[in-house]
Amino acid sequence: MKKIGVFTSGGDSPGMNAAIRSVVRTCIYLGITPYGIYRGYEGMMEGEIQEMSSSSVGNILQRGGTILKSARSEKFRAPEGRMLAAKQLEKNGIEGLVAIGGDGTFTGAKIFYEEFGIPTIGIPGTIDCDLFGTDFTLGFDTAINTAMQAIDKIRDTADSHHRLFIVEVMGRDAGFIALWTGLATGAESILVPETSTNMDSVIQTLEFGYKRNKASSIIVVAEGDDAGGAFEVANQIKARFSHFDIRVSILGHMQRGGSPTCYDRVLGARLGEAAVNALVEGRKNEMAGLINNQVCFTAFGKAIKHNLDINLNLVKLNEILSS
Ligand code: F6P
Repeated sequence: MKKIGVFTSGGDSPGMNAAIRSVVRTCIYLGITPYGIYRGYEGMMEGEIQEMSSSSVGNILQRGGTILKSARSEKFRAPEGRMLAAKQLEKNGIEGLVAIGGDGTFTGAKIFYEEFGIPTIGIPGTIDCDLFGTDFTLGFDTAINTAMQAIDKIRDTADSHHRLFIVEVMGRDAGFIALWTGLATGAESILVPETSTNMDSVIQTLEFGYKRNKASSIIVVAEGDDAGGAFEVANQIKARFSHFDIRVSILGHMQRGGSPTCYDRVLGARLGEAAVNALVEGRKNEMAGLINNQVCFTAFGKAIKHNLDINLNLVKLNEILSS
C-alpha cells in the first residue's frame, strides 16, 4: 500500500487531531504517503484531498476539533455521491482509508467498501462513546470532564440557593455521558435514553432528599431521554413537586470542544498507529478499538449503534449513592 487517506466525519471530538497526527506520522515511518481528506465524505466527493507531511500535523495534539474539518453528508448516502468519492480517490491513487468518526461514518464506510472495495479501518471518534468494540471513544473522556466541571459549578450555586437543577448533557441516542457525569457529580437522578424514565421514582428521590434537608438536587438528563429533555422534565416535576425552585441548564456543544485530556491524546496515538498497521496487514471494514488496554478490531457492522448496552449496574449504583 503506497497511499493512505485519512478523514474525520460526523460530530467532531477532542482527540481527533491526535489520531490524525498518528496516522500521518505512522504512514511516513512506514514509507507510505498520507493524504488528508477535508470535510469528511463531503470533501472526498469534492476532491478536497491534500498530501500531508510530518510538519502539517505539528503542534496539533493539544487542539480540540479537527484540523481536517468535519461534516455530515447527505450526498454520500446516494450511490451517485459514493461513485464521485471513489473517482476522486482513484484520481489521487489512494488505496486505503482511515475513517475517524462514529456510527454514521462507519455505516457509510461499510457500504462504500461493499461497492468499491477500498479497504477502510475506522477509529472511534465521538463524544457519545456509543460504539461496540472499544471501552472508550475519542473525545468521551474530555467531554465527561468538561461536563463534570460544569455540573460541579452548577452544584455550588444550587447549594447556595437551595435549588433543583435539571442539567441536560449531550447524547441524542446514548446515555453514557449522562451516566458518567451524573455518577461523578453525585446527581440525585440520571435519566438516559436506554431505560424508560420513571417519573414517579424521580419524584420519590426528590421527596426523600427534601425530607432529609438536602441543600440542593441535580438531575442529569441525556438530550435523547424519553422523558423529553431538560425543559420537559422540569415542567413535569414542577407540576408534581413544588418544594424546590427549579432551574434548567443545557450544556450543549461546549462538551464537544476544548483541549483533549491525556487519555484522549494517548488513545488517538495508539489507534492511529493501529489503523495504519491494520491496512498494511490487509485488514478492512473494521474499527480499531481498545478493550482492557489491548488494541482489537471489530467489523463495522457490529461496531455501529445499538449493539452496546449501557451498564445498568452503574445506574443502580447511583441510586444507592445519591439517596
Ligand atoms: O457527536 C455526537 C453528538 O454530540 C450527539 O450527542 C448530539 O446529539 C449530536 O452530536 C449533535 O450534533 P450536531 O449539533 O453537530 O448535529
